[in-house]
Amino acid sequence: MKLYLDTANVKEIKEAASMGLLDGVTTNPSLVAKEGRSFREVLLEVCNLVDGPISAEVVSVEEDAMVKEGRDLAKIHKNIVVKCPLIPEGLKATRRLAAEGIRVNVTLCFSPTQALLAAKAGAWCVSPFIGRLDDISSDGMALIRQIVTIFRNYDFKTQVLVASVRHPQHVVEAALAGGHICTMPFTVFLQLFKHPLTDIGLKKFLGDWGAAGRQ
Ligand code: G3P
Repeated sequence: MKLYLDTANVKEIKEAASMGLLDGVTTNPSLVAKEGRSFREVLLEVCNLVDGPISAEVVSVEEDAMVKEGRDLAKIHKNIVVKCPLIPEGLKATRRLAAEGIRVNVTLCFSPTQALLAAKAGAWCVSPFIGRLDDISSDGMALIRQIVTIFRNYDFKTQVLVASVRHPQHVVEAALAGGHICTMPFTVFLQLFKHPLTDIGLKKFLGDWGAAGRQ
C-alpha cells in the first residue's frame, strides 16, 4: 500500500520525504488555505520535494471550468494529479481530463455507487473519506471493503485512495482491505512508527550495553 501525506505543509512533507517512505501527497482547498501561501508556489515546492503523485484540487463546480482548471494544474508539474469532486459535473470533467491523459483523483466519495461511477468515468483514483463517515456513526472502512471488491470484480484500474484517516488503526484496516493508497495527516504518519515496547526494549539494550562497560 502506498503511503501519502494529506497536507500542504512543506515542513511536514520535507520531514516525511527525508525518511524515504513517502509515496505521494494529497492536498485539498482547506489544507492549502491553512498555509496562507500561493497555491501554485506550494504545489511546485511539493512536486520538487516528492517524486510521486501530488493531488491538487479544482475549485470550480462546472464542467468546462473544471477542465480548464485541471489542465492548468496539470501543466504545473508532471507529478500533479487533478482532484475533481464527486458531482455529475466533476465526473464529466474527469472523463475529459482522463481522455487527455491527465490523472484524476475523484474526491469526496462517500458511497460505493459514487465510486463505481468515478471508475467508469476513468478516474486514476477515487478518494473515499472514511473518517468523516465514522464521524457520523457510519462505517468508513466497510465502504473501503465494498469499493475494493467492486473494482476487483470488474477489473477496474482505478485505485482506492483511503482518505480522511484519523489514526493508525485506519491505516492497518485500509491495508487489510486491499486499499491501494492511504493518505494521512503527518501526526498519524509519525504514529505508525511508535510502539512502547520498542522504546522500552531499546532503552534496556542500551542500558545493558553501557552497564557491561561497552562503548
Ligand atoms: O484530503 C481529503 C481528506 O483526507 C480530508 O480529511 O480529516 O478533513 O476529513 P479530513
